[in-house]
Amino acid sequence: MIKWFLSVLVLIFLPLSAYAVTGEDIFKSKGCSGCHSKSFDSFAPSLSTISKSYYNKKEDLKAFLRGNKPGLIKGEPKTMKGFINLTKKLNDSELEALVTYLLSF
Ligand code: HEC
Repeated sequence: MIKWFLSVLVLIFLPLSAYAVTGEDIFKSKGCSGCHSKSFDSFAPSLSTISKSYYNKKEDLKAFLRGNKPGLIKGEPKTMKGFINLTKKLNDSELEALVTYLLSF
């Protein structure tokens, strides 16, 4: 009985732990891709502009997404405010993954 129970637990938790959330998953699931394109600057800066502006400034990007610092590109966020409310709730490893994704362009 206990063996059966343990194998059910393993079957449930193994796939969960094997699944690592990527920065791209977060970027898409939080709706960021609706405004930020990879290389085209619209009213929202593109990921390539973000990557260039935050080159070697990863901590500033994290502080912006935590709501602790104005942006380097546009200063005080207006449109982004609601989305910072989403990114400030990410845990450290999720934020790290998102920032690594944003800086990979
Ligand atoms: C509704 C459109 C929209 C969505 C969705 C959106 N953004 Fe933005 N983002 C903007 C705009 C516009 C700016 C320019 C600053 C401002 O006006 O807030 C910006 C600026 C930024 C910047 C640069 C900040 C600076 O000035 O240095 C980053 C980084 C960023 N967004 C990341 C994200 C992430 C991550 C998400 C998803 C959680 C996201 N954005 C979702 C519109 C959007």
